[in-house]
Amino acid sequence: MSSSTVQRAVIPRHIGIIMDGNGRWALERGRPRIVGHRVGASTVRRITEAAARLGVNQLTLFAFSTENWKRPAGETQFLMRLFLRFLSSDERVLIERGIRLHAIGRLHELPDEVRRELLRVMESTSRGDRFTLCLAVNYGARSEIVDACRALAGRAIAGSVQPSDIDEALFEGALYQPDMPPLDLVIRTGGDMRLSNFLLWQAAYAELWITPDCWPDFSEEHLMRAIDAFATRERRFGALLGSREFASPG
Ligand code: IPE
Ligand code: IPE
Ligand code: MG
Repeated sequence: MSSSTVQRAVIPRHIGIIMDGNGRWALERGRPRIVGHRVGASTVRRITEAAARLGVNQLTLFAFSTENWKRPAGETQFLMRLFLRFLSSDERVLIERGIRLHAIGRLHELPDEVRRELLRVMESTSRGDRFTLCLAVNYGARSEIVDACRALAGRAIAGSVQPSDIDEALFEGALYQPDMPPLDLVIRTGGDMRLSNFLLWQAAYAELWITPDCWPDFSEEHLMRAIDAFATRERRFGALLGSREFASPG
């Protein structure tokens, strides 16, 4: 399917991707797991550019979960160095292409250098108005919800918010990216049928698309297939749509 056959009206505004399967991809080729992470970083570049070109507004990529610290130190250190390399090598291209970098997660728990560079590139790309690339780094959806509760509890104690003021909109404003557009589509590579603590609040009504292919093999063609599938989904949000008729009970 070519990009021209995708109707702009059904392009998801915000896509989240659980970039999984890097380790398996490498092991299947007799290489160490970190090789999969390195190749996966180049997939990030390709897919960011493709998503921007297709008219998606935001891509949120699950890069490192709060649970991924359970992995061997050699792997987590490699991933931190890979983030640093990505930030320094891609900053100029992001600025040139009008891409704003954003990051969500417990950024204050990241190694100092990684946190500083993330904040610096978020600032240097902040005028990008064509597309938002959001990296979920040291991100866990449960932590995000807990952190939002803490922030609102603090405001309640300070007297700037009444408990009765707290509704879904106010709560969303306390999440890591307050201006995050609604999540339309979640893609997972590597074949596992789970969310693994990714955007649990935001995924409440997102469509899901899972491929057995691993992240280093994910291509623009996969992205097009996912968007194509999204375009065929009937999103009802709990209501009744279309020509369906239901007999009323009794
Ligand atoms: C995803 O690939 C990247 C991160 C979680 C950092 P994995 O490293 O989880 O690869 P598999 O799932 O073990 O193959
Ligand atoms: C999810 O992948 C996290 C990222 C892609 C960063 P994992 O490999 O950590 O998920 P599980 O352990 O299979 O659930
Ligand atoms: Mg995995």
